[in-house]
Amino acid sequence: MKTILKTSVLLCSLIFAAAASAQMPQMSKHAQRNIQCTGCHQNGTFAPVPTAQCVTCHNQDQLAKSTERLNYTSRMKNPKTGEVKEHIALVNPHDSYHFGRTEDCTDCHREHRASVNDCATCHDVKAWNMKDPK
Ligand code: HEC
Ligand code: HEC
Ligand code: HEC
Ligand code: HEC
Repeated sequence: MKTILKTSVLLCSLIFAAAASAQMPQMSKHAQRNIQCTGCHQNGTFAPVPTAQCVTCHNQDQLAKSTERLNYTSRMKNPKTGEVKEHIALVNPHDSYHFGRTEDCTDCHREHRASVNDCATCHDVKAWNMKDPK
């Protein structure tokens, strides 16, 4: 009896996984790279994926480096004194002014639907020459 129950639970979860994968097209390179559903979805559930799981494969130091070029020198001229003040605007999405490296990946990168740029909620990111996140 126990075995039958176990088998049917297993069968149900297999059918669920098959149905889910049919409805869960992947938008990124992960599918092309043969990364299985379980590479991100642990414990046999399809719960939203925590950042801690993403960083088991993606090194945050390297990531911060790869988009560091986006930071730029901002110059503000005081119209009265003519004095120019400079500072580095930290727009690197992987090490940013507001959040450093603590922002969740899925604020921007989505797997089964189009990604969004969270910074664009408030800023003109086109002016930052930032590509759309994949
Ligand atoms: C099992 C390892 C693994 C996990 C877990 C993983 N990734 Fe990836 N990811 C990869 C590999 C491998 C690539 C392809 C790298 C390349 O092409 O240079 C990739 C590519 C990407 C890309 C570039 C996509 C593109 O189309 O160019 C983004 C963005 C990304 N991952 C974000 C994430 C996020 C967000 C998570 C967590 C939700 C995550 N990854 C979890 C291994 C992983
Ligand atoms: C605030 C939005 C945002 C967050 C949060 C974010 N990213 Fe990104 N990510 C971007 C943008 C925008 C790009 C493309 C930047 C460019 O090249 O102009 C990018 C590029 C990437 C790439 C391709 C990097 C390359 O070498 O060009 C990977 C991989 C990636 N992100 C993974 C992650 C992972 C993993 C996390 C969480 C630790 C994360 N991102 C958090 C916005 C974000
Ligand atoms: C690179 C990591 C990654 C891989 C690989 C991946 N997913 Fe996801 N999955 C996510 C993320 C992140 C979410 C949160 C919603 C989103 O980003 O679209 C999610 C959400 C889901 C959800 C909805 C969960 C909810 O509560 O809303 C299901 C179902 C799901 N994935 C199934 C699958 C299946 C089936 C596969 C294999 C074909 C798969 N996923 C592969 C990252 C991944
Ligand atoms: C909810 C709205 C909101 C979001 C989302 C947001 N910002 Fe901001 N940001 C602001 C406001 C308001 C200011 C001005 C006040 C301050 O400095 O905190 C600001 C200031 C900044 C500054 C300082 C300006 C300078 O010249 O140095 C930088 C850099 C910046 N944001 C980058 C980012 C990046 C990168 C993201 C995405 C990771 C982001 N912001 C997301 C609202 C936002």
